[in-house]
Amino acid sequence: MIKTIIWENEQLVILNQNKLPEEVIYEPCNSVHEVAEAIKTLKVRGAPLIGVTAAFGLALGVTQYEGSFENFHQYYTSIREELAATRPTAVNLFWALQRMDGVYHKNSHKSPAELGRQMLDEAQAMYEEDINTNKMIGEHGAQLLDKPSRVLTICNAGALATCGYGTALGVIRTAYKQNKIIQVWACETRPVLQGARLTVWELMQDKIPVKLITDNMAGYIMQLDQVDAVIVGADRIAANGDTANKIGTYTLAVLAKYHHIPFYVAAPQSTIDRSLASGQDIPIEERAAEEVRSIRGVSVTVKDVEVFNPAFDVTDNSLITGIITEKKVLRPPFEHSLRL
Ligand code: MRU
Repeated sequence: MIKTIIWENEQLVILNQNKLPEEVIYEPCNSVHEVAEAIKTLKVRGAPLIGVTAAFGLALGVTQYEGSFENFHQYYTSIREELAATRPTAVNLFWALQRMDGVYHKNSHKSPAELGRQMLDEAQAMYEEDINTNKMIGEHGAQLLDKPSRVLTICNAGALATCGYGTALGVIRTAYKQNKIIQVWACETRPVLQGARLTVWELMQDKIPVKLITDNMAGYIMQLDQVDAVIVGADRIAANGDTANKIGTYTLAVLAKYHHIPFYVAAPQSTIDRSLASGQDIPIEERAAEEVRSIRGVSVTVKDVEVFNPAFDVTDNSLITGIITEKKVLRPPFEHSLRL
């Protein structure tokens, strides 16, 4: 299984996903700042992976502290803030930092070096839990496919977006082992092509049949009756089930409803944010205009044209057939099933 991050020789080594699929390059992150930059620039991306990477980043920062015990709290707050400011939408980032805060508060009497060790253990535990969680999501999700199916997905909610196995692609992986996948349709996912570069690469590594389409082809393929289910990941799920995921997800959900195709969200419980009543409250990241003006460094428009570049959209809960978590598949009304 491809490794997205590795803790090795007192540093965090990350797979630089911006170089995929052409090059498989691992790069060391030697400071909190380098970890934060890796998250911001999408070298490391995908909600669960962002969370665990930030946890390792915080632990790394703590182990590197050389100041006095008195000044430690201020230092901790500043490195935590740097990591929290990287990407606003995926709640897994804040979930992971809060979990690390728990370790800090429990061990605040210890030396920063000892605390750093405890934090590394916690980050490592989160890493392993994530893989197990994804396998459970895979088990529950595969049961939803009652015949060999053609499944459409967007972005990359795979091993590359997690510590391994994936959420939406975890369901596809398990279902494939059960002979329930005829083919995956991968939407290319403009502007930065996580579908074309990452999902296609990941599925082809595992010899899972995949066909790439541009994002605007999805409706036609549904009209041709070539899609049996849509399965996507999530960056944040509000208390009523409204789900933020990669830009374009909402369009797919509307299309799926029109064509009577089940639309599933696959996500760990750490992606659920019950503090937000609805999707309207989910902060949507806006990214640089250059991502839309160009494709992998090549300009595709008039230089300086004005651009709108939201990285995510929110799918209304009424468009979602089920939310696949590690515990079970949640069904509408989500306000009720998420509370339980
Ligand atoms: O901008 P990205 O690549 O981090 O966006 C990723 C997604 O939208 C994924 O679908 C989501 O994080 C779930 S990953 C298991």
